Amino acid sequence: MGEGLLIITIRDVRAICTAPAGTNLVVVKVETDEPELYGLGCATFTYRHLAVSCVVEEYLKPLLVGRGVADIEDLWHLMNCNAYWRNGPIGNNAISGVDMALWDIKGKLAKMPVYSLLGGKARQAVMAYVHVYGETLPEIVDNILQGLAEGVRCFRIHWGNTSKLYESAGKLAGVYFDPDLYMRQTLELFSYVRDKVGYEVKLCHDVHERLAPIDAIRFAKELEPFRLFFLEDALPPEQSEWYGVMRQQTTTPIAIGELFNNPKEWTQLITGRSIDFIRAHPSQLGGVTPTRKLAILAEQFGVRTAWHGPEDISPVGHAANIHLDLASHNFGIQEWRGIDAAVAEVFPGSPTLRDGCLQLNEQPGWGVDIDERHAKKFPCTHSTTLWTQKRILDGTLIYP
Ligand code: CO
Repeated sequence: MGEGLLIITIRDVRAICTAPAGTNLVVVKVETDEPELYGLGCATFTYRHLAVSCVVEEYLKPLLVGRGVADIEDLWHLMNCNAYWRNGPIGNNAISGVDMALWDIKGKLAKMPVYSLLGGKARQAVMAYVHVYGETLPEIVDNILQGLAEGVRCFRIHWGNTSKLYESAGKLAGVYFDPDLYMRQTLELFSYVRDKVGYEVKLCHDVHERLAPIDAIRFAKELEPFRLFFLEDALPPEQSEWYGVMRQQTTTPIAIGELFNNPKEWTQLITGRSIDFIRAHPSQLGGVTPTRKLAILAEQFGVRTAWHGPEDISPVGHAANIHLDLASHNFGIQEWRGIDAAVAEVFPGSPTLRDGCLQLNEQPGWGVDIDERHAKKFPCTHSTTLWTQKRILDGTLIYP
């Protein structure tokens, strides 16, 4: 098998853009000179899909065609330094598409699922958390009870569309947000939910970086009685030094990472033991190759993984998350927004949720395929999104 692997070369590299459920997905297909042997990788950057697709087809394809598929480690570094400037989201997603596709090919050649190539299973099941929203407290509790009945044990809980409360507050386009009201309402929410469902249910919350550092620290302390599984993105990556202060001040578990691109963004947080969960988005880091290294670094410092799993990630990317989860000793939990039926139809073999745990189909590689003819029926579009246009009441734009 090893010798066969050496002579198989890359014949074509293509970016496939599709939006079966309205969210833009980008998947890279690497074809080889071996008939029927190809790999798929997730390169989804929903809000800049054309830029990623251009990097894949105009820059990475000419770099890669004719090279052997075997040495992923070398090809990853070749792609990473080829443009000289590096570690940005567009380039990293493009590299991820190729990197994951090469792992898919290696798995197919070895006739093994990728988690097996990564060392095999560190556990038998991958626990997921799902998102719960509601306009009222009883509605949020009902949604949790429904999830519990389906076997889910961990929930990220949030008020529904709070922006409604503030839409008359300003004139600039966007969604208005009152940090003080948000913190008060969220504490009320946790108090109510704990009162109704008890402490056996795991609960998370995502601040979306919308607080000033000292407010975020006080908020994390005030949440302590409600025993969160983690508090996510309490602060933006640009303020990451504050996490060291937060860690000294509170026992609420801290999670961050979905916006990270560059190893410099996580090294200090992990080695300084300032966070509890690393929530990176594997395609944003450049694929499985760098994400596996991040997982292993985190393991050495007692930090657990909780890879980002939103709807703007392809089923190939979801599968890659789960393969990493299975093979990483320091797996914590996996975010799961579900895969829309229309998306699953384009991507046969998509992972599924059963009894609160994520299931793979155990096929070689990622186990996920794409029906390209069907994918073409759902072209991507690009409208300007409002969710990244949040403002506080005086009209100041805040992140994200
Ligand atoms: Co988040």
